[in-house]
Amino acid sequence: MEYFSCKTRIISGTGAIWKLGELKIRNLLIVADPYFEKTDIPTNVIRAAGAEQTTCFYDISPDPSVELAARGTALVQQIQPDTVIALGGGSAIDCAKAMVYFSGQKPRLVAIPTTSGSGSEVTDFAILTHNGVKHPLVDDAILPDVAILDGNLLDSLPPSLIADTGFDILTHAVESFVAQGAGAITDALARDAFAAAFTALPASFRGDTRVRQRIHIAATMAGMAFSQAGLGLCHSMSHVLGAQLHLPHGRLNAILLPAVMDANRAANHRYAALSQGVGLGSAAELLAVRNLRNGLIKLRKELGMPGTLQEAGADCNLSRQQRQKICEAVLSDPCCASNPVPVTERMVLEVLEAVTGRG
Ligand SMILES: NC(=O)c1ccc[n+]([C@@H]2O[C@H](COP(=O)([O-])OP(=O)(O)OC[C@H]3O[C@@H](n4cnc5c(N)ncnc54)[C@H](O)[C@@H]3O)[C@@H](O)[C@H]2O)c1
Ligand SMILES: [Fe+2]
Repeated sequence: MEYFSCKTRIISGTGAIWKLGELKIRNLLIVADPYFEKTDIPTNVIRAAGAEQTTCFYDISPDPSVELAARGTALVQQIQPDTVIALGGGSAIDCAKAMVYFSGQKPRLVAIPTTSGSGSEVTDFAILTHNGVKHPLVDDAILPDVAILDGNLLDSLPPSLIADTGFDILTHAVESFVAQGAGAITDALARDAFAAAFTALPASFRGDTRVRQRIHIAATMAGMAFSQAGLGLCHSMSHVLGAQLHLPHGRLNAILLPAVMDANRAANHRYAALSQGVGLGSAAELLAVRNLRNGLIKLRKELGMPGTLQEAGADCNLSRQQRQKICEAVLSDPCCASNPVPVTERMVLEVLEAVTGRG
C-alpha cells in the first residue's frame, strides 16, 4: 500500500515571488540568514508581500541550534504574525518550521528556498542541532503551507554551494528510491529529480543560470519523495558527522553515498532499477549499480568536491571509542529505520573506514 500526500501549495517559475501578493499578508515575519541583509532579495519579498507590518529576523546560522529556534519562537509569540516567510537554504527553512511549531500559534508558513538542495520547503522534517548532535524533528504539522520556487533567486549561488546542495538532491533521490517506504509515486519523483540534477549540475556549476530553475524543481521533487519514502544510512551518518565535523551537509553526503551503496549491497536490485531508470544502467544488475556509483564519483570530481573526509579537511584521527560513539549515534538516528536493509554496526564501521581510509 502506498500513501502519498503533500499539503504544500507550490508556486514555481522565474519571478514567482511576485505572486506573494495573492496571499493577502497583513503581519509578516521574515526569517533569513545575515547574507540576505546585504542583498535586495528581502526588499523585493517585502514589496511583493505588501504586508502592513513586517519584521525581519536575520539571525539564522548554518545547522540551526535549538537555542536559536527558541529565540525565534519567542519572537513569533511576541509578534503574532499571520505569515512567516522562510527565505534561504535548508537552515532558514528548518529554523522557521521549528519556530512556528513551538510557538503554539498557527501562522501560515511560506518557504522560499534560495538553494536547490534540502527540499525542506515540502518536507515534514526539520533538523536542529543541540550539544553537537543533529536532531530531526518529524511531524506533519511542520510542512510549509506554500513553497515558492523562483529561479531568479539563484543567480548569486557560488559554485561550491551548487555542488554541495546538488549532491543533497542526488542523495535524497537515491536514498528515497531504495528506501523501505518507496512506492510508485515516490519512485517517479526520485527518478526524475535524479536525472534532472545529474544532467544539469555541471552546467549550473560552470555558471549557466538557465538550468537552475529545473534543478530547483528537482530539489523539491526529491524532497517530496523522501518525505514520504524516507531516507537511509547516508543521511544518518551525515547528520552525526555533520554536527561533529561542521562540514556542509551535501558535501558529507557526496563523500558518504558511494560507500553507503557498497554497504547496502543487499539492495543492489533497487540501485540497479534507478540506474536503468535514468539511462545509466545496463541489463546486468552489478554493472548497472557500478555505473550509478561511478557516475556519482565522476560527477563529484567534476564539481570539485572531496572524495574523503581528509580531503574535506576533517581530522579523521578517531579513536576506537570515538568510532563506537559515532556508531551508536548513527544507529539511533531516525533515518536508519527506512534504510533498504537493516543497519548494523558493522555496516557503519565499513562506511567510516571507506571515507576516512582508516580501520
Ligand atoms: N528539512 C529537511 O528536509 C532537510 C533536508 C536536508 C537537509 N536539511 C538541512 O538543511 C541544512 C542545509 O541547507 P542548505 O544546504 O540549503 O544550506 P544553508 O541553508 O545552511 O545555507 C548555506 C549558505 O548558503 C548561503 N546562501 C543561501 N542562498 C544563497 C544564494 N541564493 N546565494 C548565495 N548564497 C546563498 C547562506 O547564506 C548560507 O551561508 C542543514 O542544516 C541540513 O541538516 C534539511
Ligand atoms: Fe539532505
